[in-house]
Amino acid sequence: MEQRLLQVENLTTVFSGPAGAAVAVDSVDFALDRGEVLAVVGESGCGKTVLSLSILGLVSPPGRVTAGRALFDGRDILAMAERERRAIRGRRASMIFQEPMTALNPVLTIGDQVGEPLRVHAGASQREALAAAESMLTRVGLPEPGRRLSSYPHELSGGQRQRVMIAMALALSPELLIADEPTTALDVTVQGQILELMLNLARDAGTAILLVTHNLGVVAQTADAVAVMYSGRVVEYGPVAAFFAGPAHPYSQGLLASLPRLEDRGRRLSPIPGTVPSLHDLPAGCHFHPRCPRVFEPCSRQTPPLFDLPGGRQARCWLHAS
Ligand SMILES: Nc1ncnc2c1ncn2[C@@H]1O[C@H](COP(=O)(O)OP(=O)(O)OP(=O)(O)O)[C@@H](O)[C@H]1O
Ligand SMILES: [Mg+2]
Repeated sequence: MEQRLLQVENLTTVFSGPAGAAVAVDSVDFALDRGEVLAVVGESGCGKTVLSLSILGLVSPPGRVTAGRALFDGRDILAMAERERRAIRGRRASMIFQEPMTALNPVLTIGDQVGEPLRVHAGASQREALAAAESMLTRVGLPEPGRRLSSYPHELSGGQRQRVMIAMALALSPELLIADEPTTALDVTVQGQILELMLNLARDAGTAILLVTHNLGVVAQTADAVAVMYSGRVVEYGPVAAFFAGPAHPYSQGLLASLPRLEDRGRRLSPIPGTVPSLHDLPAGCHFHPRCPRVFEPCSRQTPPLFDLPGGRQARCWLHAS
């Protein structure tokens, strides 16, 4: 069998603090093939950002990956020396963050930042890097790209900064792009355009994408597969068409039922009665059982495994135990 581009196994990330240890990412498993788009969805706080950072070895204290592997092209990113990991992040696997202002360096010009990966990882000269940066900024639709090379991040609008982030992330045609809600900070009308731009550029380069999003309309239109997270765990995983045709987990069913139309752009996911439990006070068994309309006897006692269902789907729910 061909090597999966990214294989995440049992990935677990814990934050320790005065209130005790909080498991933000709990035994997560999934795989991503070359060129594939996997959407990760779930309510605020379910661990999407921590998962994204964990995969690339970017979690910082008090957070720590306590178990699991993230195999990139067969090699565990988390077991690599930091130097090697940095080389992979610069060149083969890049990330676009939720808030572009925190990811851009405020004291470096746009030209220097977009050109940096080309200088550092592809051996381009300063002049070549600037020329490539300008052409990349043109491709992401930044107005007056030549003039923008000498601008600083604070001189750009939010949408322009996000375009710059996309240019940086895709400058070297990486094999993997992790895009954490790349457009939530933006105006709804701009969100769709920027997402489409990012997906088109990635598709042209054959880049696989792990796309964190709140927007099920975007998932339906762009993703091949979807992973639904709840309180740090993946509760459902599988091909997108089957997911929308008939979600297998009661939590996913609640998410979909709450949306009158999939095109409801920009809507936050918080549709099911009740609230997400605190990581410091998680219910026993299935974390979703206190809110679940189909709760039954085993749910409050035992954590369900991810059951395999037909069609390559999985659901972490006792309803699927056979
Ligand atoms: N630096 C930190 N210290 C302590 N806990 C943290 C830290 N960062 C994240 N967490 C906790 O980890 C959990 C998952 O957070 P995460 O940011 O991954 O959620 P998310 O799914 O990305 O949410 P959103 O949709 O709002 O972006 C949360 O309960 C959060 O409080
Ligand atoms: Mg997040």
